[in-house]
Amino acid sequence: MNKFYEDIVRGLSSRSKYLESKYFYDAVGDKLFQDIMECPEYYPTRCEMEIFSQQTGALSSLLRSHYNDFELVELGAGDATKSIHLLRRLLAENATFTYYPIDISSNVINYLETKLPLQLPGLKVKGLNGEYFEMLERQKRDSSRPKIVLFLGSNIGNIPADGVDGFCKELRSHLNTGDLALIGFDLKKDPRTILAAYNDKGGITKRFNLNLLRRINDELGADFDLEKFEHYPVYDPGTGACKSYLVSLAEQRVCVGDTECFDFKEGEPIHTEISQKYTVEQTNDIAANCGFKPISHLYDSRHWFLDAVWECV
Ligand SMILES: C[S@@+](CC[C@H](N)C(=O)[O-])C[C@H]1O[C@@H](n2cnc3c(N)ncnc32)[C@H](O)[C@@H]1O
Repeated sequence: MNKFYEDIVRGLSSRSKYLESKYFYDAVGDKLFQDIMECPEYYPTRCEMEIFSQQTGALSSLLRSHYNDFELVELGAGDATKSIHLLRRLLAENATFTYYPIDISSNVINYLETKLPLQLPGLKVKGLNGEYFEMLERQKRDSSRPKIVLFLGSNIGNIPADGVDGFCKELRSHLNTGDLALIGFDLKKDPRTILAAYNDKGGITKRFNLNLLRRINDELGADFDLEKFEHYPVYDPGTGACKSYLVSLAEQRVCVGDTECFDFKEGEPIHTEISQKYTVEQTNDIAANCGFKPISHLYDSRHWFLDAVWECV
């Protein structure tokens, strides 16, 4: 049975219904996410872009002070618009590396394998289409050179706070002592700024969330009526959890394929995504709990976003 189908049925069968956010990213979802990154309210991309475009020299020196020969692996690379600054600099400084973007979206991997060598002549790219850790395993079979792993865009925020240590320990288990991880964390800040980023006035984040229902309709033969669900984000400044829901606007029954049907009450939510926000101290604790040592902290000028460089110890 298809994994997408199994995961969707599991999520909708749960007492508190949920859909896994990794399924947002088909070709339409990838394009909508690019549009989100352009939204005036969506600050994380601009903050991290500032770091990657204005501190490129410092970042590349830091990485090359550890290794000049390495493999550069990026988890959830997306369109790589931030990492491209680092890639260009590393090439200019004659670092020897292959870039391995990992992404669950085949559309993203095809795009990167086609476009990046044209934009950056001489760059060696080997795209890996699939889940983070399965693809890290595959990458290991390709090369045993030291690794630098990028995990940008606060993708790590899509893991709930109570699962982040487990995720980072698993990441550590795929790496060797001395390898580096560069992880983008969105930091706690004015709660209104955070909530607005997930509730843009133009309604693109709403379309991005509803697109998941459209994808389930198209690929799994479901009959979601997109008009009968409303996008509803909330942010809790106490826990730092920003959560997105699709709320059923009516009592309704939705079927996925011929056999699985799900009843919704009016007002019943489907949890679609978490974007966890952290303090710097919390990120240091995660590193310490999971076998890493923070060796550098890079911030944007407002200190809204942190790119933490961790060494495997
Ligand atoms: C929020 S986007 C961020 C993209 C990029 N890192 C950036 O900063 O602009 C998340 C990306 O991670 C990918 N992704 C999400 N979950 C994944 C998973 N479990 N395994 C592999 N890729 C995943 C998505 O397809 C998408 O391209």
